Amino acid sequence: MEVLRSISEIKEKVNEWKSNGLSVGFVPTMGYLHAGHKSLIEKASSENDRVVVSVFVNPKQFDNENDLETYPSNLQGDKALIAGAGGDIIFAPTAAEMYPDGFATLVDIEGLDKELCGATRPGHFRGVCTVVTKLFLIVTPDRAYFGEKDFQQLAIIKRFTKDLNIPVEIIGCPIVREEDGLAMSSRNAKLSEEERRKALIIIEALNIIKEMVYQGTSDVEELKKEASRKISTMDIAKIDYFEIVDPDTLEKIDVVKEKALAATAVFIGKTRLIDNMIIGE
Ligand code: PAJ
Repeated sequence: MEVLRSISEIKEKVNEWKSNGLSVGFVPTMGYLHAGHKSLIEKASSENDRVVVSVFVNPKQFDNENDLETYPSNLQGDKALIAGAGGDIIFAPTAAEMYPDGFATLVDIEGLDKELCGATRPGHFRGVCTVVTKLFLIVTPDRAYFGEKDFQQLAIIKRFTKDLNIPVEIIGCPIVREEDGLAMSSRNAKLSEEERRKALIIIEALNIIKEMVYQGTSDVEELKKEASRKISTMDIAKIDYFEIVDPDTLEKIDVVKEKALAATAVFIGKTRLIDNMIIGE
């Protein structure tokens, strides 16, 4: 599995494929890959002639130095997973390659970045939009694949590619979970055994309110209160946010009428985990 480090090399490679009439799928990641990422690469591989996977821990989207410094990495393991899932090439630039001296342009989105993760992680989505725009312009894929685990990120990426007329089709892929229900995340590796066990409170709370809606509760305040109560029964869990929003606009709603998105971020010890679930379908 070839790992390209420079922008010129990956451009050359993609140009060569395209001049041979091949379609290109793209899966952007920050590495330390797991079955969630694998499902994206497999889907990309089934729908495109060639698949590029980027592995780049983007410093511009971290609002916390410690989180950036302790972000796990394992390029050897990633290479094997990417090869096994049908990826063709890895683009793993350095931070200096992506943000050379004098770099001064940021891609900002209005509105969609205000709620949920945007409210508690200021600047985070500006960093995501900036790096994904750069990656799209470098890789020029026909299709790009993103997980619904980061539901807000997916909605924002769909929005800015449309707004900026970037010619790429954005494809959302379902959340892949561990057998016991915990959403897969590179950050799960940071959890101690006890934290890993206790992190299940997140999916339990989501399941509870999904069931409540199914049984007829539609008042969002009541649902949020029950979810918060459930999560706070776990001593090491601290809610960053728990919201119920319109899945298209991500705006807060008062009543669950039909499809709604319950989205949460919870600190388990020092590790911030996110998860979400469509309720009321
Ligand atoms: P990262 O967290 O590595 O995730 C890369 C992609 O994998 C994202 O689209 C994410 O939604 C998806 N993913 C992660 N866990 C998943 C799971 N359990 N099920 C399904 N998909 C999952 O998201 C990022 O990196 C970065 O913000 C990035 C887009 C690469 C920009 O830097």
